[in-house]
Amino acid sequence: MMSGRVASCWILVAMVVVLSTASAGGDTAEKGVTYDGRSLIIDGQRKLLFSGSIHYPRSTPEVNVLHFISYIRPLCFLNVLLMMWPSLIKKTKEGGIDVIQTYVFWNLHEPKLGQYDFSGRNDLVKFIKEIRSQGLYVCLRIGPFVEAEWNYGGLPFWLRDVPGMVYRTDNEPFKFHMQRFTSKIVNLMKSEGLYASQGGPIILSQIENEYGNVEAGFHEKGASYVKWAAQMAVGLQTGVPWIMCKQPDAPDPVINTCNGMRCGETFPGPNSPNKPKMWTEDWTSFYQFYGGEPYIRSAEDIAFHAALFIAKNGSYINYYMYHGGTNFGRTSSSYFITGYYDQAPLDEYGLLRQPKYGHLKELHAAIKSSANPLLNGKQTVLSLGPMQQAYVFEDENSGCVAFLVNNDARKAIQMQFRNNAYSLLPKSIGILQDCKTLIYETAKVNVAKNMRVTTPVQVFNVPDKWEVFRESIPTFSDTPLKTNALLEHTNLTKDRTDYLWYTLRFESSSPCANPSLYIESLGHVVHVFVNNALAGSGHGSRNITAVKLQVPVSLINGQNNISILSGMVGLPDSGAYMERKSYGLTKAQISCGETNAIDLSGSQWGHLVGLLGDKVRLHQWANLKSVKRSTNDAGLIKNCPLAWYKTMFDEPSGDGPVGLNMGSMGKGEVWVNGQSIGRYWVSFLTPSGHPSQSIYHIPRAFLKPSGNLLVVFEEEGGDPLGISLNTISVIGSNQAQSQLS
Ligand SMILES: *[C@@H]1O[C@H](CO)[C@@H](O)[C@H](O)[C@H]1NC(C)=O
Ligand SMILES: *[C@@H]1O[C@H](CO)[C@@H](O)[C@H](O)[C@H]1NC(C)=O
Ligand SMILES: *[C@@H]1O[C@H](CO)[C@@H](O)[C@H](O)[C@H]1NC(C)=O
Ligand SMILES: *[C@@H]1O[C@H](CO)[C@@H](O)[C@H](O)[C@H]1NC(C)=O
Repeated sequence: MMSGRVASCWILVAMVVVLSTASAGGDTAEKGVTYDGRSLIIDGQRKLLFSGSIHYPRSTPEVNVLHFISYIRPLCFLNVLLMMWPSLIKKTKEGGIDVIQTYVFWNLHEPKLGQYDFSGRNDLVKFIKEIRSQGLYVCLRIGPFVEAEWNYGGLPFWLRDVPGMVYRTDNEPFKFHMQRFTSKIVNLMKSEGLYASQGGPIILSQIENEYGNVEAGFHEKGASYVKWAAQMAVGLQTGVPWIMCKQPDAPDPVINTCNGMRCGETFPGPNSPNKPKMWTEDWTSFYQFYGGEPYIRSAEDIAFHAALFIAKNGSYINYYMYHGGTNFGRTSSSYFITGYYDQAPLDEYGLLRQPKYGHLKELHAAIKSSANPLLNGKQTVLSLGPMQQAYVFEDENSGCVAFLVNNDARKAIQMQFRNNAYSLLPKSIGILQDCKTLIYETAKVNVAKNMRVTTPVQVFNVPDKWEVFRESIPTFSDTPLKTNALLEHTNLTKDRTDYLWYTLRFESSSPCANPSLYIESLGHVVHVFVNNALAGSGHGSRNITAVKLQVPVSLINGQNNISILSGMVGLPDSGAYMERKSYGLTKAQISCGETNAIDLSGSQWGHLVGLLGDKVRLHQWANLKSVKRSTNDAGLIKNCPLAWYKTMFDEPSGDGPVGLNMGSMGKGEVWVNGQSIGRYWVSFLTPSGHPSQSIYHIPRAFLKPSGNLLVVFEEEGGDPLGISLNTISVIGSNQAQSQLS
């Protein structure tokens, strides 16, 4: 159903792709990456590199045409933002970035032992080839434990069932699977010719991740694991260096690198004078969990610490994240919100965040303009005052550059340097090209701030347009797995769903004025139903992992049905001995007033994995057998716990990003055309009384022009008539030019 104009456009695109692929295949001369104490050395040349993290599964790929778009744009009506990977990479390059850094997500690629998935958003090879085609390098952080606020830190959950398994230590089963997966990825990269040693874009690889944080917990087995991991990785012969971040004892030739916000001040440096000083995670913001506020890090502060790192001999800085994106589906780890690093230079939707993007772009240009003296000059450090220094790099052949540092956060300072006076703002670093001309100052922002605007284009406020399906509340007789104990949550769900039902029959005989049910759970959410009605709910938080809940209940004389839904909001992504963590109900008691607590923990419990709606694939609104309720009365569909809602909508016009405002709902998950856009949780308010995230990104790639299926699963009860579809744009700061040029 393509229009003639669009069809001819696609033929042209196909031709351009074929031509470019042909011309790129020519040069297969041996190339490589080495390093010395100053920097990475690529094809024999020292390099000063800026890098940005973009995680491929946190945005959508689409076709590999963006870099030709300027030729074909007049001919066709193609949507630039539809193609997130090419567009993000292009904007990253325009921001003065040389390298794109990504983790590899094991649990995406091997959801079942030996069954691999590299399709769609998981198409790692396509992502790397797109980066190559735009002329950037890649840093591939294989891990395969990655943390990354990603479900289970990237480990596949089936690993937990491998006999004898202890993660991330000198443990044979773990080492076997880690080596197997790492080799799988390295061989895939080699077979596609993607290492720089083969003429490809990958200049670095990472093994493990921030292991220094947990190493002590494994005693002597921690140190031997680090040695093994380094040897194993180096033995895979990629022809490019390996790094380990936050790993002071990284064995040679692996380079230890820094993560943090102030690595110029905190990093003691590489563990050998022959290794370059590298910063693998310069946090542009920080992760955000439900109940937490966004972390705002200013452009000035990021620029100050990046410049300081370079002044102190650093030659590689990666911004984490440069684009964060979206935790689609159930990919976020415990309690993290669905948007990821929205405060990065490219926001969740890929829009420029100004002045952060522009101020860093100017910093990169200023530093690059003096790459020669920086990489080849001799460093001298001068004191210019109690809190002021100059870092000078000079060489008679390659020139001179100076970084004037004012560490005083309260006072602007006049500094004398080589017979000139320079005035520097408080907490600022000035870059003097040729040791003379002040071309950049970290505290002086020339780029104007922009503002993001969310514009509602449709409110789903017509009751007739909604259909609703209520989950049935299972009773003891509906739940097949019966034991005299409360079973561990993830042992049963295997993380195939967030949900597990615990059911009980409770015989009430003696009269009781105010009965209540007391529950303890190791997370994350519980909803208590008594005789088919919601009696109460509770949840933990990032800080409070145990849920304790006392709910008043009304019991009838005789048999009562107690059904408790336990829900997870992602598995953990960090810590030692992650395989031992347990979740779900641990205690249940019925009390009558102050006394007479009856412990139910050892009673006969039924267990049922997952929701009925999941089993019949309600996210596609398929197999709907019953309960098409009359929806004429808006009251009928509001405030209904455990309800599935469905409506249809047309794609908003324009090519800007699209988001759903879920502010009228509670907690649950949303699907568009059968694809999950992530969990939402707007009822969990921050200390200042706002939801941590109200707007949830729908990638344009998930949409068709009309007849899009929207399905919402709501746990607590909300008002779907308040959900709205929005377009998202920015105003101010040469936006149009930067977005679409
Ligand atoms: C968690 O604790 C930290 C400090 O310990 C606090 O700043 C933060 O607000 C807490 N977050 C939540 C969701 O309770
Ligand atoms: C930078 O490197 C030079 C040469 O290795 C060394 O002499 C100097 O101490 C280093 N400076 C800093 C601040 O690390
Ligand atoms: C989970 O199941 C395994 C056996 O399948 C058992 O050894 C382990 O104790 C269980 N964990 C918990 C916390 O119940
Ligand atoms: C409890 O559930 C059973 C079915 O398992 C049902 O027959 C019974 O009516 C329920 N009792 C109450 C009080 O809802």
